[in-house]
Amino acid sequence: MTSPLEPSPAGRGSSPIGVFDSGLGGLSVLREIRALLPHESLLYVADSRHAPYGEKPESFVEARTLQACDWLIAQGCKALVIACNTATMHAVQAVRARFPTLPVIGVEPGLKPAAAASHSKVVGVLATASTLKSDKFNRLLTSLQQDSRFVCEAGLGLVPLIEQGDISSPDMRARLQTLLAPMLDAGADTLVLGCTHYPFLTRTIREMVGERLAIVDTGVAIARQLARKLAEFDLAAAPDAAPRDRYVSTRDAAHLRSMAAALLGVDAEAETVVIGTDRPAA
Ligand code: DGL
Repeated sequence: MTSPLEPSPAGRGSSPIGVFDSGLGGLSVLREIRALLPHESLLYVADSRHAPYGEKPESFVEARTLQACDWLIAQGCKALVIACNTATMHAVQAVRARFPTLPVIGVEPGLKPAAAASHSKVVGVLATASTLKSDKFNRLLTSLQQDSRFVCEAGLGLVPLIEQGDISSPDMRARLQTLLAPMLDAGADTLVLGCTHYPFLTRTIREMVGERLAIVDTGVAIARQLARKLAEFDLAAAPDAAPRDRYVSTRDAAHLRSMAAALLGVDAEAETVVIGTDRPAA
């Protein structure tokens, strides 16, 4: 295995980029990275054994994120993408402190682009309860509240359904209806998807609200930020490199494989792995 601190024979550029989420949501970010950076190898970790993070204590989310990032670095990753808003809110600082010489990209709800795009200056925000409670999110909110009003709703129960592959059942639609109604009633014309699981609901939301809401998700912006950081750190893969992707789950590789096929249309080899303080399944 290549140490993250030593060049691989082909140079560090050929090492994979680690992409991490509490579960399947980060696949919505991986999709954009794959599209923008076709020569990069990606190593995706779905911590589905512990999803949803959004309803767990902050200290748990931070500890788990650090364990997953340690694991990715031990696999030789050259950069880390925390493709989870909740984990970014509670752990990105700790991850950057632990790996000060590596690019570490986090994600946060796109309040700024949404406020800039909104005509009514009323923006709906759908994110996990934990993201909405976090200091980092509330600092961002406060910095933008002078010009725009934000109607924030915690998407309780959405992530477990998406983890099961449910993106449009009557139950999912009923939950979305309840969450979107206060935003529409308040005059929102823009909706921020502040959890990386939610972009998989875009089509369903569109069917429900038509063009009444412009939908903002940050996947493309994250991929661009990653590209900039790889260039800055001189870590980009060679333009003729053939990427090798790896998908791992802490719960169920077969499920991750079938969800990657359903959500991304890729036929990925997947493995079940034990990370951090988890015990191997009996
Ligand atoms: N996908 C995650 C996020 O962006 C977390 C979902 C969860 O595990 O609750 O916030």
